[in-house]
Amino acid sequence: MDDTPRPPRRKRYAGKNPRRFEEKYKEHQPERYAETIGKVIEAGKTPAGMHVPIMVEECLEALALAPGQWGIDATLGYGGHAREILGRIAPGGHLIGLDVDPIEQPRTLARLRDLGFGEDAFTAVSSNYAGIRKVLDQRERAAVDFLFADLGCSSMQVDNPLRGFTFKSEGPLDMRMNPTRGIPASEWLEKSSVAKVAQALLENSDEPRAEEIAEGIAGRHLPTTRALVDALRAIPVLATMDAERAELAIRRVFQAIRIEVNGEFSALDSFLRQVPYCLVPGGRVVVLTFHSGEDRRVKKAFQAGLREGHFSAVSDGVVIASPAERRLNPRSIPAKLRWALRA
Ligand SMILES: C[S@@+](CC[C@H](N)C(=O)[O-])C[C@H]1O[C@@H](n2cnc3c(N)ncnc32)[C@H](O)[C@@H]1O
Repeated sequence: MDDTPRPPRRKRYAGKNPRRFEEKYKEHQPERYAETIGKVIEAGKTPAGMHVPIMVEECLEALALAPGQWGIDATLGYGGHAREILGRIAPGGHLIGLDVDPIEQPRTLARLRDLGFGEDAFTAVSSNYAGIRKVLDQRERAAVDFLFADLGCSSMQVDNPLRGFTFKSEGPLDMRMNPTRGIPASEWLEKSSVAKVAQALLENSDEPRAEEIAEGIAGRHLPTTRALVDALRAIPVLATMDAERAELAIRRVFQAIRIEVNGEFSALDSFLRQVPYCLVPGGRVVVLTFHSGEDRRVKKAFQAGLREGHFSAVSDGVVIASPAERRLNPRSIPAKLRWALRA
């Protein structure tokens, strides 16, 4: 299934520059329009259909890679981190890239192959990282030298209105990273009680007005992102907020529903439980998180692993993006990196 809009052949937008995701035909063809891509990134934006990898240097330093190593990138995405990792484990190394997204993963595989990473160096596996041990078992690998995870969703997913992740443009209220599994966000909302939605808002986004917001959206038929935004704006507590606070609340609601629809916390908990059983002694795990719900889980799991003797060391606090990266790529602002070293 591939429902991402294709770049138009001819210019069909109003004004000097394209505004809509599907109109940005140059950004959709980064190999052909490298100059445009460079300008978009320099302006602090993410080109349409692309993902700018976050904290690359910090991740590589924490992974301490060496030629010949084997590892897993549990969240392949656009392959930005994978490409850098592959460069450092060559010659003789091998990376397995997992992703649940059946739309983007084949494109990333094709890009990495075009860059010269053949089957000896890279394998793409369509799998949830909750199944990481099984992925190794199927390849008869007892353990790997490193594990890397860059949590959440990619810019390609968020920016594509057809996938329904963003409150910024109209699209079906879907939000599934794997649209062939589970139910879309609209169906989840329609089937959920006020208590269930309130709990998701509280647990997934620390939403302080969880109950009032849940009362305004739970059990309702809201088929599009716009319908959800309109329903949220009509809730008295949001209607009386200033624009900035209301937008933050809307962001939190979208995040909470996305986490629910994709089962993100249960997948992360399962991944974290398996990490010690997938690493060789001295192996490293590096995880990038983007909100407190994720970071709390990683921190707890690493500290428990240290206490139980699975890890010999864990990061002391979190590493965050440099001021330059935060300026250049606002999506790096909430990122927190933690690492652990297998005993
Ligand atoms: C932030 S992006 C990764 C970006 C990547 N590091 C890069 O440089 O392009 C996260 C990716 O993880 C995938 N993902 C999210 N949850 C997953 C899960 N439970 N199992 C496997 N992949 C998952 C998403 O589909 C998305 O492609």
